[in-house]
Amino acid sequence: MRRFDRVPSVATVSICCYFSSRTSHKECVPIEPLTSAATPSTPFAGLTELGDNPSEGPLTPSFLVDADRVVELLRVGVASEHMSWLAYTAHAAAMDSLRARPVAADFREHAEQELGHMRKLMGRMQQLGAEIVLDPMQLAKRSIHPHAVPGTLEDMVGYHLQAERRAVEFYRDAVQWLGDRDPTTRRLMEDVLAVEEQHARDLQDFADHA
Ligand SMILES: [Fe+2]
Ligand SMILES: [Fe+2]
Repeated sequence: MRRFDRVPSVATVSICCYFSSRTSHKECVPIEPLTSAATPSTPFAGLTELGDNPSEGPLTPSFLVDADRVVELLRVGVASEHMSWLAYTAHAAAMDSLRARPVAADFREHAEQELGHMRKLMGRMQQLGAEIVLDPMQLAKRSIHPHAVPGTLEDMVGYHLQAERRAVEFYRDAVQWLGDRDPTTRRLMEDVLAVEEQHARDLQDFADHA
């Protein structure tokens, strides 16, 4: 069974709230049932439908989804990557004990990678002609991760492990939802997903040996 088959109602769930403990996240992307993309009758069918509308840039007739919805998905990704970067950076800076050094080094490495994800997602938004607004309040509102100030080393590891698991679910679902509708965004998110899975593995190792 595909994950989206379990979604009870298109109108009441969203791609980023479905797996999140937050139920009032207003900025997320509504899920619609996954349908198979229209298959062109010939490899050149899209060319005949192309028409003459250069103002749409890369959005040609074979782009099978509303670009605004992809952009909103990317916005949620950008906001969540920003929160991850912020949290890793802040928590690494707060660690001062000898035993915390390996964890702090890992947090700093993860922070750099989250920043890289954020840049990649913003790059795709620009390709799709979307405006990029990095308002801290809006970013915090859109993020799938809550802001938290964990007190102990174990709490910090636990916070980030849960955040990475949330990110894995978000990107995995985004990849499934995008399917053939927008392969470029899907591949980008597949690449990010692989890194998030590694982050979760790293944190699980720290949690197991704490
Ligand atoms: Fe990330
Ligand atoms: Fe991550």
